[in-house]
This record gives sequence, C-alpha cells and structure tokens, in this order.
Amino acid sequence: MANMWKGRFRSATHPLMEAFGQSLSFDRELWRQDLKGSLAHVKMLLAVGLLTAKEETAIRRGLKGIARDLASGELVLDPANEDIHMSIEAELTARIGEPAKKLHTARSRNDQVATDLRLWTREKQASLSDRLRQVMLSLLELARSGQKLVIPGYTHLQRAQPVLLAQHLLAYVEMFGRDRERLADCRRRTNRLPLGACALAGTTLPIDREMVCRELGFDGLCENSMDAVSDRDFVAETLACLALISVHASRLAEDAILWTTSEWGLARLDDAWSTGSSIMPQKRNPDILELTRGKAGRVIGDWVALLTILKGLPMAYNRDLQEDKEPLFDAVRTVDSVLQCLSAFLPTLRFDAGRASALLADGFLDATALAEFLVEKGMPFRTAHEASGNLVRLAEDSGRQLSGLTMAEMRTVCPLLDESVYARLDPSRTPASYVSSGNAGPAGVRQALAAWKKKLRE
Ligand code: ARG
Repeated sequence: MANMWKGRFRSATHPLMEAFGQSLSFDRELWRQDLKGSLAHVKMLLAVGLLTAKEETAIRRGLKGIARDLASGELVLDPANEDIHMSIEAELTARIGEPAKKLHTARSRNDQVATDLRLWTREKQASLSDRLRQVMLSLLELARSGQKLVIPGYTHLQRAQPVLLAQHLLAYVEMFGRDRERLADCRRRTNRLPLGACALAGTTLPIDREMVCRELGFDGLCENSMDAVSDRDFVAETLACLALISVHASRLAEDAILWTTSEWGLARLDDAWSTGSSIMPQKRNPDILELTRGKAGRVIGDWVALLTILKGLPMAYNRDLQEDKEPLFDAVRTVDSVLQCLSAFLPTLRFDAGRASALLADGFLDATALAEFLVEKGMPFRTAHEASGNLVRLAEDSGRQLSGLTMAEMRTVCPLLDESVYARLDPSRTPASYVSSGNAGPAGVRQALAAWKKKLRE
C-alpha cells in the first residue's frame, strides 16, 4: 500500500504491521460520520479561501458520490487502506484526482477521528434513549394490566411485606428513567467539536471552527487543542451509562428468572420466548433473561477495557486510542439488542394470581402491618414490634397464619387488640392500607403510573 505518510520513509511498512495497525475492519462503522465531517470541513475551507469554488464543488460531489455508493453497497472500501479516514480520502483521490489532495488541509486524523466518534456517539445516545423509553412503556403496560395483583415483596430474598406487582415493575421504570437522564447529561459533554485542533496544536491556517461547529450541530468547541484530540471522556461516560443500563436489565432478568422457576411459579414464559433443551423434552428455559444477565458482564468489561486504555496515556493523541472503538461499538450493539428484546418480551409475561396468593399466605407478611396497627392504638413501636413478634411465634408454633388466631389468644399477648385488627391481617389486603407517598399499595401505584405515563408522553 502506498501510505499517505510515505514522504520521509525509504521502505514499505511490514505486512504484519499493516495488519496489526489497520482499523478499517471496525471503523468503517464511522463512514457516514466521516463523510459528514468532511463535507462541513470543505464548506468551511471554501468560506475562508483555502479552496476555490471549483475545488470545493469537485470534492463535495466526490464525497456525495462516495456516500451514495457506500449506502447502496456498490462501493466496497479497499482493505489495503489503514482506516476509514484514509480509505475515503483514497477513494476520493481515485475519483476526482488533484482537488482531493486539498481535503486534508488544516486537519489531522486525530481531530477527524475524535469528531467522527462524537457524531456517532451522540446518535447512539439518542437511539438508546428511545429504546429505553420502549422498555419503560412495556413495563408500564405490564404494571397497568397487573395493577391489582399483590405479591410478596422481599428483603434478603426472604418474604417481607406484601406489595403490588406494579410497584415492583415500576421500580425498574425508575431505574431506566434515571438511565435516560444520564444519557442526556452525557450528551452535553459529547456534543463538542474537536475538529480544528488538527494533530494537537491547532494550525497556522485561518480556519473557522465556529462555522464547522454550527454546520455539524455541535453545542460548542472543544476549547483546548490537546484535550480535543486526546479526550475520550465522552466514551467512558457513555460506557458507564451503558454498563449501568445493562446492570438494571440484568436485575430485571434475574427477578423474572426467579418468578418463572417451578419453585416460585409466579409467572410463565410465553412460548415465543421460551427455549427448549436438546435432551430434556419438558424444559422451558428463560434464555432471553439469562443472556440479558450475562451480557451485563460483557458491557461492564467494555467499560473497564476503555478505562484501562485511557489510564496512563500521556498527552496528546496516542495510537492506543484506536482501541476505544471496539468496546464502544460492542457495548452499544449489545445494549441495543438487550433493550429491543426486553421491550418485546415483557408484555408476554403472564402472572399467576392463584400462585401469588398461595405465596402470600405463607410467611407472616402482615406482621409489620399488625405492629403498625398497635402504634395507631398508642403503643410505642418497639413494644408493638415485640407484641407482633410474639403473635407470629404463637401462630407459627400452631401452624396457623396471624389471621387464624382467635381474639382471645391475641388478647392474652396484647390486651390492646380488638376485632378491627382482622381487617389488617390479610396480606393480600394490606397494601390497600399503605398511605405514605411512593408506597407499594394501590394509592402509590396509581400516582406513579399516571406520572410516568405523562412523563413518557412528553
Ligand atoms: N485509526 C486511528 C484511530 O482510530 C485514526 C487516527 C490515527 N492517527 C494517527 N496519528 N495515526 O485512532
């Protein structure tokens, strides 16, 4: 290959070095952004007098032709070129000849690749945010349709207090909602223009960075030329967001895996989302959920890979930075597929109301409500906690639920109690008595559903 830097070398690059150094096999992903950046750059070069109108026209038409042919698949970039930037420039030279030699005026691949990657990343931040919105809508729909179902809520994976299934699902809506905020916040720092920093120092040529900034829809310039070419914080931040999204998805998957076990039996997988076993004919495996859980490991790995690449880099551009792309591309692709699958899968999950009430009947989930009932009667909470605990022991020893104790038995433990306590002693009805804001009962859920529906419509 005739390298673009060939001027000062006597012999060709070793083939192993060429293969080792090439990035075209993965950075061809950036072709649209590269062309977009070049078109803006060329327009600016014309405006400041570094190109004639004729040259600008030739380059612009050439670049647009390349865009057309890449989009149609007619043009396959020559793998002999090192990266997407050189490939496109070489193709342009083959098409228009002499004027192509001016495209790279006042530009380096260092500011070029940083620009391309920022353009690419900001698009993906937006499309992933849309994907998150879809998952949230699926969760809301599931929460709405299963709104009345009461299930055991757990702490330490021990049955704790009854909650509405909807509240459990809405917890994930909160998490994914925060993820969307994080992506939007991260975009503010992503959407800055590095182009014009050139290799690291800026240029002696009279370029107009503000014009390119406006052309490309950036919110402002990367102010320091050395930071501009070496900053990959926006990649690190995006990967951090993606890692957290995948952790949230993984937790949701884990919950759903538990729900669909024979042991819990709280939910059933739709056939379309169940996978079988090659040996055990009866199996219905939740591969969608297990893969969602597993992919979180991969995305966290992508984030750690990037941080490790950045750690210890001296100023300014170093070729190590070429390694930023594969983790980013991989994480975006992975999270995109996770979210797409989740939003299609979630509405098909079917809950078993009979099984929910069977689970509720076991485990004294109404013991806290009983203690709070005593607090309403004027008892200090610590004393009420102990009294309720004594009643639990009494019921447990005789194989009954709290509601199975007679009034006389209850009174021997706690004379404050009267018949009205029984209304609080059915775990399936306890949530109806929750009153605090954000509670896991019908009152809290109704409010949250309405608030989220409104927010997601905006
Ligand atoms: N392919 C390179 C990358 O992804 C482009 C920048 C190369 N710059 C250089 N000075 N070799 O980082």
